[in-house]
Amino acid sequence: MIHINDTSTYHKEQIITLGWELTVCNMLYPEHSPCRQVIRKNASYGTLLYEFLSEFIDITQITHIMEVGGGYGFLMKDLLQFCPEALVTMIDISPAMLEEQKRNVQGKITFIESDFLKVDDDILTNMDLIICNEILGDFITVCNITKEILESSELSEIKEIRRLIAEYNLGICSEPFNFNLGALLALEKMCQAGIKYIYASEHSCESESQGDFKECVHVRPTFNPYEIRLFGHSEYALRFSHLEAVARKWGYTVHRGVYNDIFGCEMTPKLRFILHSTASVKDEYEILRQFIGDMFIYEYVLCTR
Ligand SMILES: C[S@@+](CC[C@H](N)C(=O)[O-])C[C@H]1O[C@@H](n2cnc3c(N)ncnc32)[C@H](O)[C@@H]1O
Repeated sequence: MIHINDTSTYHKEQIITLGWELTVCNMLYPEHSPCRQVIRKNASYGTLLYEFLSEFIDITQITHIMEVGGGYGFLMKDLLQFCPEALVTMIDISPAMLEEQKRNVQGKITFIESDFLKVDDDILTNMDLIICNEILGDFITVCNITKEILESSELSEIKEIRRLIAEYNLGICSEPFNFNLGALLALEKMCQAGIKYIYASEHSCESESQGDFKECVHVRPTFNPYEIRLFGHSEYALRFSHLEAVARKWGYTVHRGVYNDIFGCEMTPKLRFILHSTASVKDEYEILRQFIGDMFIYEYVLCTR
Protein backbone atom coordinates (compact mmCIF):
# COMPACT_ATOMS: atom_id res chain seq x y z
CA MET A 1 0.00 0.00 0.00
CA ILE A 2 1.46 3.35 -0.90
CA HIS A 3 1.31 6.14 1.62
CA ILE A 4 1.51 9.86 0.87
CA ASN A 5 3.28 11.89 3.54
CA ASP A 6 1.72 15.34 3.47
CA THR A 7 2.56 17.89 6.19
CA SER A 8 0.40 20.74 4.90
CA THR A 9 -2.44 20.41 7.45
CA TYR A 10 0.05 20.28 10.31
CA HIS A 11 1.81 23.42 9.06
CA LYS A 12 -1.38 25.31 8.24
CA GLU A 13 -3.34 24.48 11.38
CA GLN A 14 -1.22 23.08 14.18
CA ILE A 15 2.34 24.36 14.22
CA ILE A 16 2.89 27.07 16.84
CA THR A 17 6.59 26.58 17.51
CA LEU A 18 9.68 25.09 15.87
CA GLY A 19 10.99 24.21 19.33
CA TRP A 20 10.28 20.56 18.69
CA GLU A 21 12.42 20.40 15.57
CA LEU A 22 15.67 22.12 16.32
CA THR A 23 16.87 23.36 12.96
CA VAL A 24 20.57 24.09 12.52
CA CYS A 25 19.69 27.74 11.89
CA ASN A 26 17.91 27.96 15.24
CA MET A 27 20.65 26.03 17.06
CA LEU A 28 23.19 28.61 15.89
CA TYR A 29 21.04 31.67 16.50
CA PRO A 30 21.72 32.43 20.20
CA GLU A 31 25.02 34.27 20.54
CA HIS A 32 26.09 31.98 23.38
CA SER A 33 24.99 28.75 21.70
CA PRO A 34 27.54 25.99 22.50
CA CYS A 35 27.36 25.05 18.79
CA ARG A 36 29.10 28.31 17.88
CA GLN A 37 32.18 27.16 19.78
CA VAL A 38 32.78 24.23 17.43
CA ILE A 39 32.26 25.93 14.06
CA ARG A 40 34.92 27.83 12.11
CA LYS A 41 33.84 31.22 13.49
CA ASN A 42 31.42 32.48 16.16
CA ALA A 43 28.59 33.56 13.86
CA SER A 44 24.99 32.83 12.91
CA TYR A 45 23.75 30.62 10.07
CA GLY A 46 22.83 33.71 8.00
CA THR A 47 26.33 35.16 8.32
CA LEU A 48 28.09 31.90 7.49
CA LEU A 49 25.76 31.24 4.58
CA TYR A 50 26.46 34.73 3.23
CA GLU A 51 30.20 34.03 3.35
CA PHE A 52 29.74 30.65 1.72
CA LEU A 53 27.47 31.95 -1.06
CA SER A 54 29.90 34.81 -1.70
CA GLU A 55 32.46 32.28 -2.93
CA PHE A 56 30.12 31.61 -5.89
CA ILE A 57 27.82 34.63 -6.21
CA ASP A 58 28.29 38.40 -6.03
CA ILE A 59 25.55 38.97 -3.48
CA THR A 60 25.87 42.74 -3.72
CA GLN A 61 24.44 42.44 -7.25
CA ILE A 62 21.34 40.62 -6.03
CA THR A 63 18.20 42.71 -5.86
CA HIS A 64 15.42 40.14 -5.32
CA ILE A 65 15.62 37.27 -2.82
CA MET A 66 12.90 34.77 -1.95
CA GLU A 67 12.93 32.46 1.04
CA VAL A 68 10.55 29.53 1.12
CA GLY A 69 9.59 28.23 4.57
CA GLY A 70 11.66 30.71 6.56
CA GLY A 71 10.51 29.47 10.00
CA TYR A 72 11.35 32.17 12.56
CA GLY A 73 13.09 34.29 9.90
CA PHE A 74 16.51 34.23 11.60
CA LEU A 75 18.40 33.24 8.44
CA MET A 76 16.95 36.13 6.42
CA LYS A 77 17.36 38.59 9.29
CA ASP A 78 21.10 37.90 9.39
CA LEU A 79 21.58 37.63 5.61
CA LEU A 80 20.00 41.05 5.15
CA GLN A 81 22.77 42.73 7.17
CA PHE A 82 24.91 42.22 4.06
CA CYS A 83 22.37 43.36 1.45
CA PRO A 84 19.91 45.66 3.26
CA GLU A 85 18.55 47.10 0.01
CA ALA A 86 17.39 43.73 -1.38
CA LEU A 87 13.68 43.21 -2.03
CA VAL A 88 12.69 40.08 -0.15
CA THR A 89 9.71 37.76 -0.52
CA MET A 90 9.01 35.31 2.31
CA ILE A 91 6.61 32.49 1.36
CA ASP A 92 5.32 30.19 4.05
CA ILE A 93 2.34 27.88 4.30
CA SER A 94 2.05 28.51 8.05
CA PRO A 95 0.32 31.64 9.37
CA ALA A 96 2.05 31.13 12.73
CA MET A 97 5.53 31.04 11.17
CA LEU A 98 4.76 34.10 9.03
CA GLU A 99 3.87 36.02 12.20
CA GLU A 100 7.29 35.10 13.62
CA GLN A 101 8.96 36.24 10.40
CA LYS A 102 7.08 39.57 10.49
CA ARG A 103 8.41 40.13 14.02
CA ASN A 104 12.01 39.19 13.20
CA VAL A 105 12.77 40.30 9.63
CA GLN A 106 12.96 44.00 8.85
CA GLY A 107 13.46 45.59 5.43
CA LYS A 108 11.65 45.67 2.13
CA ILE A 109 9.74 42.47 2.71
CA THR A 110 6.63 40.95 1.12
CA PHE A 111 5.05 38.11 3.09
CA ILE A 112 2.97 35.52 1.24
CA GLU A 113 0.95 32.83 2.97
CA SER A 114 0.86 29.91 0.54
CA ASP A 115 1.99 26.41 -0.22
CA PHE A 116 5.05 27.06 -2.42
CA LEU A 117 3.84 24.56 -5.01
CA LYS A 118 0.58 26.50 -5.42
CA VAL A 119 2.08 29.95 -5.70
CA ASP A 120 1.71 31.65 -9.08
CA ASP A 121 4.82 31.19 -11.25
CA ASP A 122 4.76 34.93 -12.10
CA ILE A 123 5.87 35.72 -8.55
CA LEU A 124 9.11 33.83 -9.16
CA THR A 125 10.16 35.49 -12.39
CA ASN A 126 12.06 38.47 -10.90
CA MET A 127 13.89 36.49 -8.24
CA ASP A 128 17.70 36.32 -8.41
CA LEU A 129 18.10 33.94 -5.46
CA ILE A 130 15.71 31.47 -3.83
CA ILE A 131 16.58 29.89 -0.48
CA CYS A 132 14.91 26.70 0.76
CA ASN A 133 16.52 25.92 4.10
CA GLU A 134 15.46 22.69 5.80
CA ILE A 135 12.04 22.71 4.18
CA LEU A 136 12.01 20.42 1.13
CA GLY A 137 11.65 17.33 3.36
CA ASP A 138 8.28 18.72 4.46
CA PHE A 139 6.93 18.57 0.91
CA ILE A 140 4.97 15.53 -0.24
CA THR A 141 6.83 12.22 -0.22
CA VAL A 142 5.21 9.17 -1.76
CA CYS A 143 6.17 6.04 0.21
CA ASN A 144 6.23 2.28 -0.37
CA ILE A 145 6.19 2.38 -4.17
CA THR A 146 6.75 -1.01 -5.75
CA LYS A 147 7.88 -1.65 -9.32
CA GLU A 148 4.39 -2.82 -10.20
CA ILE A 149 2.72 0.31 -8.78
CA LEU A 150 5.25 2.50 -10.57
CA GLU A 151 4.55 0.83 -13.90
CA SER A 152 0.77 0.53 -13.75
CA SER A 153 -0.85 2.93 -11.25
CA GLU A 154 -3.04 5.67 -12.67
CA LEU A 155 -2.87 7.74 -9.48
CA SER A 156 -1.91 11.32 -10.40
CA GLU A 157 1.09 11.32 -7.99
CA ILE A 158 2.47 8.10 -9.50
CA LYS A 159 2.01 9.44 -13.03
CA GLU A 160 4.05 12.51 -12.01
CA ILE A 161 6.73 10.26 -10.52
CA ARG A 162 6.87 8.25 -13.78
CA ARG A 163 7.29 11.49 -15.72
CA LEU A 164 10.08 12.77 -13.44
CA ILE A 165 11.97 9.47 -13.49
CA ALA A 166 11.84 9.34 -17.30
CA GLU A 167 12.48 13.04 -17.92
CA TYR A 168 15.47 13.33 -15.57
CA ASN A 169 16.72 9.76 -15.83
CA LEU A 170 16.46 9.23 -12.06
CA GLY A 171 17.90 6.05 -10.58
CA ILE A 172 15.85 3.97 -8.14
CA CYS A 173 17.75 1.49 -6.04
CA SER A 174 15.38 -0.12 -3.56
CA GLU A 175 12.07 -1.97 -3.68
CA PRO A 176 9.74 -0.65 -2.38
CA PHE A 177 11.03 2.91 -2.47
CA ASN A 178 10.07 6.37 -1.24
CA PHE A 179 10.07 9.33 -3.61
CA ASN A 180 10.49 13.05 -2.80
CA LEU A 181 7.79 14.17 -5.22
CA GLY A 182 7.10 17.62 -3.71
CA ALA A 183 10.78 18.52 -3.38
CA LEU A 184 11.48 17.67 -7.03
CA LEU A 185 8.41 19.54 -8.28
CA ALA A 186 9.47 22.57 -6.22
CA LEU A 187 12.96 22.52 -7.71
CA GLU A 188 11.56 22.01 -11.20
CA LYS A 189 9.29 25.03 -10.66
CA MET A 190 12.29 27.19 -9.72
CA CYS A 191 14.41 25.95 -12.64
CA GLN A 192 11.53 26.47 -15.06
CA ALA A 193 11.19 30.07 -13.83
CA GLY A 194 14.87 30.60 -14.71
CA ILE A 195 15.99 31.56 -11.19
CA LYS A 196 19.71 32.43 -11.37
CA TYR A 197 20.71 31.03 -7.98
CA ILE A 198 18.94 28.35 -5.92
CA TYR A 199 20.17 27.25 -2.50
CA ALA A 200 18.50 24.25 -0.84
CA SER A 201 19.52 22.23 2.19
CA GLU A 202 17.88 19.31 3.98
CA HIS A 203 18.42 15.93 5.64
CA SER A 204 20.02 13.68 3.05
CA CYS A 205 19.71 9.91 2.66
CA GLU A 206 22.90 9.92 0.57
CA SER A 207 25.40 11.66 2.84
CA GLU A 208 28.24 10.27 4.89
CA SER A 209 30.42 11.53 7.75
CA GLN A 210 33.89 12.53 6.58
CA GLY A 211 37.52 12.88 7.67
CA ASP A 212 38.26 12.75 11.40
CA PHE A 213 34.52 12.48 12.11
CA LYS A 214 34.02 9.26 10.18
CA GLU A 215 34.81 6.88 13.05
CA CYS A 216 32.70 8.57 15.75
CA VAL A 217 29.79 10.07 13.80
CA HIS A 218 27.83 7.26 12.26
CA VAL A 219 26.20 8.79 9.17
CA ARG A 220 26.03 6.44 6.20
CA PRO A 221 23.90 6.61 3.03
CA THR A 222 20.74 4.50 2.69
CA PHE A 223 19.71 5.88 -0.75
CA ASN A 224 16.03 5.53 0.14
CA PRO A 225 14.43 8.63 1.72
CA TYR A 226 13.80 7.72 5.35
CA GLU A 227 11.16 9.00 7.73
CA ILE A 228 12.04 11.55 10.41
CA ARG A 229 9.34 11.54 13.06
CA LEU A 230 8.66 14.93 14.59
CA PHE A 231 6.00 16.42 16.80
CA GLY A 232 2.64 16.17 14.97
CA HIS A 233 4.12 15.20 11.60
CA SER A 234 6.90 13.35 9.80
CA GLU A 235 9.29 14.59 7.18
CA TYR A 236 11.54 12.61 4.81
CA ALA A 237 15.22 12.81 4.03
CA LEU A 238 16.05 13.71 0.42
CA ARG A 239 17.81 11.96 -2.41
CA PHE A 240 20.11 14.81 -3.34
CA SER A 241 21.26 13.03 -6.50
CA HIS A 242 17.69 13.44 -7.80
CA LEU A 243 17.72 17.18 -7.06
CA GLU A 244 21.09 17.41 -8.77
CA ALA A 245 19.81 15.59 -11.87
CA VAL A 246 16.83 17.95 -12.22
CA ALA A 247 18.96 21.09 -11.89
CA ARG A 248 21.61 19.82 -14.34
CA LYS A 249 18.98 18.97 -16.95
CA TRP A 250 17.86 22.59 -16.77
CA GLY A 251 21.42 23.74 -17.47
CA TYR A 252 22.52 24.62 -13.94
CA THR A 253 25.97 24.12 -12.47
CA VAL A 254 25.47 22.31 -9.18
CA HIS A 255 27.71 22.66 -6.12
CA ARG A 256 26.78 19.98 -3.63
CA GLY A 257 28.14 18.96 -0.25
CA VAL A 258 27.49 18.43 3.46
CA TYR A 259 26.82 21.22 5.96
CA ASN A 260 30.32 20.93 7.33
CA ASP A 261 31.61 22.56 4.12
CA ILE A 262 29.75 25.68 5.24
CA PHE A 263 30.28 25.52 9.01
CA GLY A 264 33.81 24.05 9.13
CA CYS A 265 33.81 22.04 12.38
CA GLU A 266 37.20 20.56 13.19
CA MET A 267 37.94 17.68 15.53
CA THR A 268 39.48 18.63 18.87
CA PRO A 269 40.34 16.39 21.86
CA LYS A 270 37.30 17.78 23.73
CA LEU A 271 34.96 17.13 20.80
CA ARG A 272 36.36 13.62 20.38
CA PHE A 273 35.67 12.94 24.06
CA ILE A 274 32.09 14.27 23.74
CA LEU A 275 31.37 12.30 20.57
CA HIS A 276 32.71 9.08 22.09
CA SER A 277 30.96 9.39 25.43
CA THR A 278 27.49 7.91 25.54
CA ALA A 279 26.43 9.33 28.89
CA SER A 280 25.03 12.86 28.82
CA VAL A 281 27.08 14.39 31.60
CA LYS A 282 25.93 17.81 30.49
CA ASP A 283 23.05 19.02 28.26
CA GLU A 284 25.72 20.79 26.22
CA TYR A 285 27.27 17.44 25.24
CA GLU A 286 23.94 16.14 23.96
CA ILE A 287 23.38 19.33 21.94
CA LEU A 288 26.86 19.09 20.42
CA ARG A 289 26.42 15.41 19.51
CA GLN A 290 23.23 16.28 17.63
CA PHE A 291 24.84 19.33 16.02
CA ILE A 292 27.93 17.47 14.80
CA GLY A 293 25.71 14.68 13.45
CA ASP A 294 23.73 17.34 11.56
CA MET A 295 26.96 18.61 9.96
CA PHE A 296 27.02 15.37 7.94
CA ILE A 297 23.33 14.36 7.82
CA TYR A 298 22.42 17.57 6.02
CA GLU A 299 23.42 18.24 2.45
CA TYR A 300 23.06 21.41 0.40
CA VAL A 301 22.90 22.17 -3.29
CA LEU A 302 23.75 25.54 -4.75
CA CYS A 303 22.50 25.69 -8.34
CA THR A 304 23.82 28.52 -10.47
CA ARG A 305 23.37 29.50 -14.09
C1 LIG B 1 11.61 22.86 9.43
S1 LIG B 1 11.00 24.47 9.23
C2 LIG B 1 12.47 25.28 8.66
C3 LIG B 1 12.49 26.72 9.05
C4 LIG B 1 13.74 27.51 8.66
N1 LIG B 1 13.97 27.50 7.23
C5 LIG B 1 14.96 27.05 9.41
O1 LIG B 1 15.88 26.49 8.78
O2 LIG B 1 14.99 27.23 10.65
C6 LIG B 1 9.99 24.35 7.77
C7 LIG B 1 9.31 25.67 7.36
O3 LIG B 1 8.68 25.44 6.09
C8 LIG B 1 7.33 25.86 6.12
N2 LIG B 1 6.61 25.02 5.14
C9 LIG B 1 6.32 23.70 5.24
N3 LIG B 1 5.70 23.27 4.13
C10 LIG B 1 5.60 24.33 3.28
C11 LIG B 1 5.05 24.52 1.98
N4 LIG B 1 4.48 23.52 1.32
N5 LIG B 1 5.13 25.74 1.41
C12 LIG B 1 5.71 26.78 2.08
N6 LIG B 1 6.22 26.67 3.33
C13 LIG B 1 6.18 25.46 3.92
C14 LIG B 1 6.94 25.67 7.59
O4 LIG B 1 5.81 26.43 7.96
C15 LIG B 1 8.21 26.15 8.29
O5 LIG B 1 8.27 27.55 8.37
